[in-house]
Amino acid sequence: MAAISWKWKDAGTTLTALEQPALPAERTMTHRIGYLIGSLAHDSINRILATALVRLAPSSLELVEIPIRDLPLYNRDDELEPVAAVTDFKRAIEQSEGLLLVSPEYNRSIPGALKNAIDWGSRPWGHNSFARKPTGIIGASTGAIGTAVMQSSMRSVLSFLNAPQLNAPEAYITFDPDVFGDDGEVKDDGTEKFLRHYMSEYAAFVERVLSLTAPGHVGDQD
Ligand SMILES: Cc1cc2nc3c(=O)[nH]c(=O)nc-3n(C[C@H](O)[C@H](O)[C@H](O)COP(=O)(O)O)c2cc1C
Repeated sequence: MAAISWKWKDAGTTLTALEQPALPAERTMTHRIGYLIGSLAHDSINRILATALVRLAPSSLELVEIPIRDLPLYNRDDELEPVAAVTDFKRAIEQSEGLLLVSPEYNRSIPGALKNAIDWGSRPWGHNSFARKPTGIIGASTGAIGTAVMQSSMRSVLSFLNAPQLNAPEAYITFDPDVFGDDGEVKDDGTEKFLRHYMSEYAAFVERVLSLTAPGHVGDQD
């Protein structure tokens, strides 16, 4: 895939270019989707959910994790000379055709580690890596409302970042260890059917967003 080089400038300083992939002239049927897990815990239930989603996704999606654990805390002072973890993260977002956010809810909002990653990806001003990426938001919690409030917060953030979002179906998962195996096996037929449906709807949404050709839809760098 050919790459377009671009640079960001601030106060007269030209920084190392990140590469942004050109959109293919002819889209293939397979779309590369980056997924972010909002938990750093080694036994995260959201990591288990993500593993299940990868298993149940249609073959048109190639799902690749974009890790967030090595990112430093966001600091505007470091925007112009970011460490490799930041440039790698932004590149991975930009090279994804869509993004899936699989996250717990912390104190009725987005976990700090994930919000930190999104903040890095949104900067520097004018180089928001999330712009126009078709996104899906899903999460598991031990509580009854299954990350609903986190997802509401996330929708505000992604709206500001100009990232189109799958609106329906919504997916609020109350985690039951009897339903999810550690390897992502889903042992309940109804849950498996729902998650398979969610991923099919997400794949269709990605296809719709990527097939739009209106001027301004592709090629901008906001
Ligand atoms: C700091 C913190 C805040 C939490 N806040 C919420 C919450 O607001 N809503 C909720 O349903 N569960 C909450 N929980 C419980 C999580 O649902 C539970 O810890 C879950 O396992 C986290 O997902 P993970 O295993 O993928 O890390 C919270 C947990 C922690 C550690």
